[in-house]
Amino acid sequence: MNNQDLLRIAEEFGDPVYVYDAEKIIFQYNRLISAFKDVENLRINYAVKALSNMSVLRLFNHLGAGLDTVSIQEVQIGLEAGVDPSKIIFTPNGVSLEEIEQAAELGVQINIDNLSILEQFGAKHPEVPVCIRINPHVMAGGNTNISVGHIDSKFGISIHQIPHTLRIVENTGMNINGIHMHTGSDILDIDVFLYASEILFESAKQFKDLEFLDFGSGFKVPYKEGDIETNIEELGQKLTKRFKDFCKSYGRKLTLAFEPGKFLVSEAGKFLVKVNVIKQTTSTVFAQVDSGFNHLIRPMFYGSRHEIHNISNSQGRERFYSVVGYICETDTFASNRKIEEIKEGDILSFSNAGAYSFSMASNYNSRFRPPEVLWYEGKAHLIRERETFEDLLKGQVAVDFEKLASVE
Ligand SMILES: Cc1ncc(COP(=O)(O)O)c(C=O)c1O
Repeated sequence: MNNQDLLRIAEEFGDPVYVYDAEKIIFQYNRLISAFKDVENLRINYAVKALSNMSVLRLFNHLGAGLDTVSIQEVQIGLEAGVDPSKIIFTPNGVSLEEIEQAAELGVQINIDNLSILEQFGAKHPEVPVCIRINPHVMAGGNTNISVGHIDSKFGISIHQIPHTLRIVENTGMNINGIHMHTGSDILDIDVFLYASEILFESAKQFKDLEFLDFGSGFKVPYKEGDIETNIEELGQKLTKRFKDFCKSYGRKLTLAFEPGKFLVSEAGKFLVKVNVIKQTTSTVFAQVDSGFNHLIRPMFYGSRHEIHNISNSQGRERFYSVVGYICETDTFASNRKIEEIKEGDILSFSNAGAYSFSMASNYNSRFRPPEVLWYEGKAHLIRERETFEDLLKGQVAVDFEKLASVE
């Protein structure tokens, strides 16, 4: 998918628009599979929250992946996409017992991360096998908002509560078939993964009927050319060895599971916007685009970096710009960034727009959410239409104040 392809897509489907390169998704999936090729039973559960378009889920299903879901709606979308319930894991946080029961009814693997629900669910449904999410108390992740395995985090059952967990299991007669952890996102250092894995192994030893160990995700992807990323191949080698040793001592061949979002889809996505205005102020040159944090919240939300290129002038001389959106608040995509010279009407391409981009988009400022396009085998496929004015009004109920006033 080159710049000319992207320009044609912007021309055909309008702007702003998200574009996903299926080839890159497939490449990343195969890369992970090959890093862990020596694990006999490997399961990659794609984290739906990163990008939940049905066609993307169908692509993962086609590749043989399962799904990691965090809401009953994600479970339902996964099933709608044709994924077998046995290949879906439901890992919610702080949801009601009813929502977990609903998911269990649909036949997906339940993953519980607190003792209160574990006890209630176990007492009512001891026959349903459950995975538990532990909190390994490891500080990891590229930003405090995405570090979720530390002692102050709301996620997981503390490893210090394993004796209590075991008591609940014994008292309810439930069956724990998996142990899961997810320590954060954007973790670069594989030693952090390996360290947390040792804690997972230590916890797993205490459960006798396990079928799988789920190491979560959090792999760091590159955000610019030459950027550092998690060394998946080295992690594959080292963790495979430790996992095999663990299975030997545990006395059973377990499945090793991961649930990446970013690693699989981040780099595959481009977000294309048009420059509405070039505004020179006393201190900077703003490129104001036809989008904002309503469509790509990550830079404002947790300071993420997205490479920006002017694909209408890719050979142009580089100059410094602040790229900003049209939202009525500070809405900065990039400050003082070197970009190929920009004119009004040019199309800019934001990189790493596959994960947590459309899925975090909103209608703030009553703007439409943009369309999504999947680039597959050299062709552009529209996989979500641009919203319309009807979509903005959908579900709204208009109160007729004139009528109410006349009744009084
Ligand atoms: C439980 C769980 N699993 C997997 C993921 C995916 O993480 P990433 O996109 O960093 O791979 C997340 C992200 O928030 C998560 O909370």
